[in-house]
Amino acid sequence: MDNAQAGATTKTVTFRIWRQDGPGGEGHYDEFRIPYTKGANVVSSLMEIQRNPVTVQGKKVAPVVWDAACLEEVCGSCAMNINGRVRMACSALVDKLEQPITLEPMKKFPVVRDLTVDRQRMFESLKRVKAWIPVDGTHNLGPGPRQSPKDQATMYVLSTCITCGSCLEACPQVTMDNDFVGAAPISQARLFNMHPTGKMNAEERTRALMGPGGIQDCGKAQNCVKVCPKEIPLTSSIAMMNREVSKLLIKDIFFKEEEQKHAAGPG
Ligand code: SF4
Ligand code: FES
Repeated sequence: MDNAQAGATTKTVTFRIWRQDGPGGEGHYDEFRIPYTKGANVVSSLMEIQRNPVTVQGKKVAPVVWDAACLEEVCGSCAMNINGRVRMACSALVDKLEQPITLEPMKKFPVVRDLTVDRQRMFESLKRVKAWIPVDGTHNLGPGPRQSPKDQATMYVLSTCITCGSCLEACPQVTMDNDFVGAAPISQARLFNMHPTGKMNAEERTRALMGPGGIQDCGKAQNCVKVCPKEIPLTSSIAMMNREVSKLLIKDIFFKEEEQKHAAGPG
């Protein structure tokens, strides 16, 4: 029986939701049953549960806590594990999900409460790669440099990242105990390195991807590209930035050899 049939027959939808009071605390699942509504998504269902947070056992519990803002897959805040797969709750239609629908917080970020996590790790990585264009004032600088339509098309897709963290969640190399930056910051480094003004800081961004937690920690599992809600070509971004890192490493070796020759003096 598919879910639409199940919903039509029982006229209810069952949710199994992870409950956790705070970071690092013990957790458990609460089960809720709500009336079936055609076209409902996970966020609208969470709102329905919030109206009367009573479990299927009839126990009144604290309302479930989750993050959401735009409700149209733009802000990236509602990422969570839905039936074991990370995705955006606002675009996850109940009709397309197996029941009971299991909701869990992302596991690669510390839980704040219930389904809400702290994605600071990703924002710190974006700072590490300087994922921005430096400006020296707010005065009018006139029209920007021209870009080819091909570059514009590539950059547009990269710029649609909503910092949801799904790519980090799906990556086996990202763990709570390490500091691998993950796919999104690598892809943003590529975006800003392509920018005509951002190119000025390209070497700095590329160097930020060297060393511990950098691009060499990528295990090429390619899970990131499968879960990205914006279908950003993350594996291409990783390959491109890997090439840039390799070029810099070769340059460094070359300069080191040159320096050693100079230090040794003539003869
Ligand atoms: S690259 Fe995709 S999956 Fe990763 S944070 Fe950006 S939008 Fe989310
Ligand atoms: S609420 Fe903004 S992406 Fe889902």
